Amino acid sequence: MSSARLQKEIIWSGLSSKVRSQLVEFDVFSEIDSTNRWASQMMADHGCGGVLCLSEKQTAGRGRYGKSWYSPFGENIYFSWGCEIEKPIEELSTLSLVVGVHLAKAFEKIGVSNITLKWPNDLFLNEKKIAGVLIEVIGSPALTKTSGKLNTVQVVIGVGININMRSDSENIAKPWCSLLSEIEANGWEQRFENYMIEHDGRKKICRNKLAKVLITDIIEGVMNFAEVGFDFYKAIWSRFDCLKNRRVVFCENQNRIVGVGRGISASGEYLVDVDGQIKTLKYGELSVALN
Ligand code: BTN
Repeated sequence: MSSARLQKEIIWSGLSSKVRSQLVEFDVFSEIDSTNRWASQMMADHGCGGVLCLSEKQTAGRGRYGKSWYSPFGENIYFSWGCEIEKPIEELSTLSLVVGVHLAKAFEKIGVSNITLKWPNDLFLNEKKIAGVLIEVIGSPALTKTSGKLNTVQVVIGVGININMRSDSENIAKPWCSLLSEIEANGWEQRFENYMIEHDGRKKICRNKLAKVLITDIIEGVMNFAEVGFDFYKAIWSRFDCLKNRRVVFCENQNRIVGVGRGISASGEYLVDVDGQIKTLKYGELSVALN
């Protein structure tokens, strides 16, 4: 039976066996401060092996650059996966792009069109942010003793996806959407019929069903990245790039710099043409320039 609440057993049994075999801890909370905080703690407690949790609500959801992530009860998907990745720490900056690619591809797979990525990994639908990814490195190569492997880094990959949240929420500053708000606005109801449930007399998206697909694809995708490396992903990421050939703006030493987006480099940095000179951004925020 479909449920409006996140169901631990349903989600667990819907994950692929490859994913389940990676996990030593799995939980679904009705409330937590931050799923990323929980996963870091669990990784520290267990030493090695993957951990995964979801929560109905976060009271201190973390966003990038110290921002908070609005996480009301029962509306969206918030999950964190703590894992060890065998990669030199220098290559880990590309991990965030890889997670974005697998999130974008998973959305396409379930039938969502017009998905784009804003470097490095914000997921946009119809030019509005629908999901964010926060990757926190919690170990360093020095911790390899715990697993005995070379170049093993412990990371927590946290993903927040707006699913059923209504657009009248006043808590988010920048343009955003939820999957349900876009389904209704674009008349995609029939396309998503298999994902809909009725709750309190209203149609909602079944988060259990969606979580199984999205989490499996992201975890299996990151396992693939550990084997093939970022070369495999550059062209795929570029297909989703929402900034390429658009006027973009970023901050450098507290100055607002405007340029034209030119896509990513072989190592995942963003290239911006500023008055004929290419600037290479390793981190920071880039947005479309409105004026
Ligand atoms: C961003 O700023 O775009 C990243 C947002 C990441 C939010 C998710 S929700 C699940 C996980 N737990 C957290 O505290 N943050 C991430």
